[in-house]
Amino acid sequence: AGLAALLSTAAQAELTGKVIGFSQIGSESGWRAAETSVTKSEAEKRGVELKFADAQQKQENQIKAIRGFIAQGVDAILVAPVVSTGWDEVLTEAQEAGIPVVLLDRGIDASQDLYLTSVASDQVKEGRVAGEWLVSAVGGKPCNVVELQGTVGSSPAINRKQGFEEGIAGAANITLTRSQTGDFTRAKGKEVMEGFLKAEGGGASICAVYAHNDDMAVGAIQAIKDAGLKPGSDILVVSIDAVPDIFAAMVAGEANATVELTPNMAGPAFDALDAYLNDGTVPEKFIITESKLYTPADNPQGEYDSRKGLGY
Ligand code: AHR
Repeated sequence: AGLAALLSTAAQAELTGKVIGFSQIGSESGWRAAETSVTKSEAEKRGVELKFADAQQKQENQIKAIRGFIAQGVDAILVAPVVSTGWDEVLTEAQEAGIPVVLLDRGIDASQDLYLTSVASDQVKEGRVAGEWLVSAVGGKPCNVVELQGTVGSSPAINRKQGFEEGIAGAANITLTRSQTGDFTRAKGKEVMEGFLKAEGGGASICAVYAHNDDMAVGAIQAIKDAGLKPGSDILVVSIDAVPDIFAAMVAGEANATVELTPNMAGPAFDALDAYLNDGTVPEKFIITESKLYTPADNPQGEYDSRKGLGY
């Protein structure tokens, strides 16, 4: 059980001994920490030498790391791109060096020829699932929602906003009243929620908070409690990731829904690279992971127990 349960089971021979660079965004969230640890475990299991570079949320650091990987002549590069623009030049350099690039969990606005495949969720769908959940949860009652957006310019912030707006589009009773970035962190989610609560009469006019990730939701929950209100009932809480802490909040009655994002993007990425490096098999351009909705009806204690220890 534990971490082993999340790792893929296929036997990969071709990747043994290969050197793969991984440019990770940073460690802004519990989900990100899990993705890092799962990627390292997947690499170890397959005998891959993983060169890990933490960009500390800065695209310039990612570009430097990718250039470093190219100079070292790695066999492949994994990138979780912090923002969606500004990748053409460095990915062209990788392509010219004959090094396949795989995108993990975030998308980019660049020619699709510049990467082998992208392993990510359908982020618009995640937002839509969250929005549709809220529509059904409030059942026609008037509801003012505040939104905590992810990192400005990142694909999940752009797409989860769009999807949520699509999800609530048909519900005239639901109004998105405030929206601001919380940068995918717990601390910023709390701080921005505090501002929303102050601006909205102490929170009396807020019916729900939609956070682009669970960490910001956990920060918002604290802010709601500090304001003397009950998260989960006075203010509904819906978010994305399905990390253990949001299930703990559900058990406590303080969170209402989350949409799962698997931290195992590396398994499908290594599978694709294995086939490509073995016999040139070109994978699908987009490998889409599942987006499952969880609510307190879905055994949150069991979900917490089974996820705790998966690198979160
Ligand atoms: O790109 C995926 C997002 O990045 C996760 O939802 C969030 O927690 C992380 O920081």
